[in-house]
Amino acid sequence: MGITFDKEQKTFRLDTPGSSYVIAIADEGFPGHAYYGRRLSSSDKTALYLRTEEPPYVPSRNARDRLSFYDSFPAEYPVSGIGDYRPSCFAAHDSLGREAGCLLYSGHRIFSGKPDLPGLPAAFAEDSDSETLELLCRDSCLHLAVTLRYTVFSDTDAIARSVLIRNEGETAVILTRALSASVEWDDLSRDILTLHGSWARERHIQRREAGYGSYAVSSLRGEPGHQDNPFLAVLSREASQESGEVFGANLVYSGNFIAEAYGGQFDTLRMNLGIHPEGFTWQLLPGDSFQTPECILVFSDHGIGGMTRTFHDLYRNHLIRSRFRDADRPVLLNSWEAVYFDIRSEKLLEMASASASLGIELFVLDDGWFGKRDSDNSSLGDWTVNESKLPGGLRALGDDVGKLGMRFGIWVEPEMVSPDSDLYRAHPDWAIAISGREPGLARNQYVLDYSRTDVREYIWGCLKKILSEALVSYVKWDMNRPLSDLGSQALPPDRRGELSHRYVLGLYELLERLVTGFPDILLETCSGGGARFDPGMLYYSPQIWCSDDTDAVERLLIQEGTALVYPLSAIGSHVSDCPNHTVGRTTPIETRALVAMAGTFGYEMDITRIPEEDRSQIPEQIRRYKKHAALIRSGDYYRIAAYRETGTHDCWQVVSKDKRKTIMTYIQVKACPNIRSRRIRLQGLLPGKRYRLEATGEIFGGDCLMYGGWLFGPLKGDAAGVFLEFTLAED
Ligand code: DGJ
Repeated sequence: MGITFDKEQKTFRLDTPGSSYVIAIADEGFPGHAYYGRRLSSSDKTALYLRTEEPPYVPSRNARDRLSFYDSFPAEYPVSGIGDYRPSCFAAHDSLGREAGCLLYSGHRIFSGKPDLPGLPAAFAEDSDSETLELLCRDSCLHLAVTLRYTVFSDTDAIARSVLIRNEGETAVILTRALSASVEWDDLSRDILTLHGSWARERHIQRREAGYGSYAVSSLRGEPGHQDNPFLAVLSREASQESGEVFGANLVYSGNFIAEAYGGQFDTLRMNLGIHPEGFTWQLLPGDSFQTPECILVFSDHGIGGMTRTFHDLYRNHLIRSRFRDADRPVLLNSWEAVYFDIRSEKLLEMASASASLGIELFVLDDGWFGKRDSDNSSLGDWTVNESKLPGGLRALGDDVGKLGMRFGIWVEPEMVSPDSDLYRAHPDWAIAISGREPGLARNQYVLDYSRTDVREYIWGCLKKILSEALVSYVKWDMNRPLSDLGSQALPPDRRGELSHRYVLGLYELLERLVTGFPDILLETCSGGGARFDPGMLYYSPQIWCSDDTDAVERLLIQEGTALVYPLSAIGSHVSDCPNHTVGRTTPIETRALVAMAGTFGYEMDITRIPEEDRSQIPEQIRRYKKHAALIRSGDYYRIAAYRETGTHDCWQVVSKDKRKTIMTYIQVKACPNIRSRRIRLQGLLPGKRYRLEATGEIFGGDCLMYGGWLFGPLKGDAAGVFLEFTLAED
């Protein structure tokens, strides 16, 4: 493992178990991207990949064509304004009107371990399993010190990158673009993989050819949004699920972002990721610093699946901090789709009691329990229990739930305020709004200005009170609208462009207080379904509600895309009622349960009113989930077939790290007449060993299952599912 500096060539080689990343410092001190790919045994001659030995050469050899150099050099951290006309990572000016930038190498530091990023979520690692390079660059005109930071991990093919920008001059500098990472490839014959969607259709996979010009996924919503995810992968054209080269990038950030791929005139492909520059400014007074969010880069030469498994391992081992990360999560019943705003203690306890008798362990009280919250038109911000709905308050309900042997959890939406609330009437200036403009409503609510300390203090006080009032062991933290009308009564006009990032920093500060102040509470974050499903959130909450769409068929698409990057242990997934409340489709409860098993398993329905035939299946579903929970949480995930591609069926598999156990779920989405069986090949087993099918005790060779496959015969009916479990047979 590690990072090595080759003095002669002026190259830095960053090695992970299976990849190398080489940075070279060209003459005059330009840091350039020389190589990223399969692991190299040495960095001999890798500086040549900068192509500075050919026209237009470095400016010291060809001063008349300095701009041609800038516009073709694979800059490690591209800067705009002096001749690199491609999308850049950095732009700034000072109060004297000086702008642009030219970042030249000025020193470096290599050390064990990985520093925290103050105020920001970031991957963590021990000194023994990681090494960091800090590459210090300086711009002599704006007097900026720009530290490019890279950490490699000894157990995974990932590199964490971020940038620290410090004003070393005597004049204020305004950053207008400060992205986190850039990578450049010298061929365009590649594909790009991104995740898109909408409310109830989050994170559908899109693969397209890279080409000339820009292609970006982004958000200006103050959160990643339902629409795009802060993830982009560059693939070799022939890359498939289990073969070919894949480079994945994911921004550890929960606000505005851009992930852009640009095909240039010399058939190069540049990828930049970071905070979206539109509307962004950040003022650095002399001595001030700005820390960008972290970007995770993953390399796989085992196709898309290899990238997926690396992201899963990295997030499970180096990002999710919660003590619930490695613990069985309680099987929950959530009240939302059961009763919506019609909250009444009696009814809730009836549901809790039925749930307890079926083996459900946690009762979650969703929206509607506070203020005058009878619909989504009021009361956000008034975090006091509505005692006419819940006599005795949260304590009484929590105690009664506890007497049933269940744990108790609640929903909150602390970033919001309803115009019809006591909080808004008392503090209209606490909502984000542009002076002189009526802010736009979404779901009849405004966003609280989390850049303000007084707002955060007030909300923290409310949260502490609620969480101390009853024995709460789970919190669902929701956010049901994007940011707009970006104005803050507390920020001076010349800092307006800082609001959306300050909002995210304020949110992180509150989440940090929550997880450190109440470490025994299991936190699930949520945003109108899955509008804030990003690695930043995973640093605080080990699970995130994936989508408001709980239909088993729609979830195949949503969960395939989500699991492309994020571990199953993070994917909030429930069995809900039929006809499904979003799409009206009816599917068998067994299939709904099988789909929910590829995530954190729970129920969201009025369990007292579903058909007895369905209810009677629940104890066995829970038993099965709990039996495999540790494997689902920690195993290697294989995407065997995708409904998105087949149009007929879907299949995924999880294999334990020691390869002794595997589970596989096959869903036949559409029944089809007169077809023969489908051959589905398992993955990740030991070919020379034998495995037992747990349902029958039959023995099969690992190689037979992987190379010959398993024959799934046609099933009766649409959305039918089959679950298989194999364990290593003792010889
Ligand atoms: C949106 C969430 O995604 C739902 O699960 C539910 O909590 C509602 N908000 C409540 O308003």
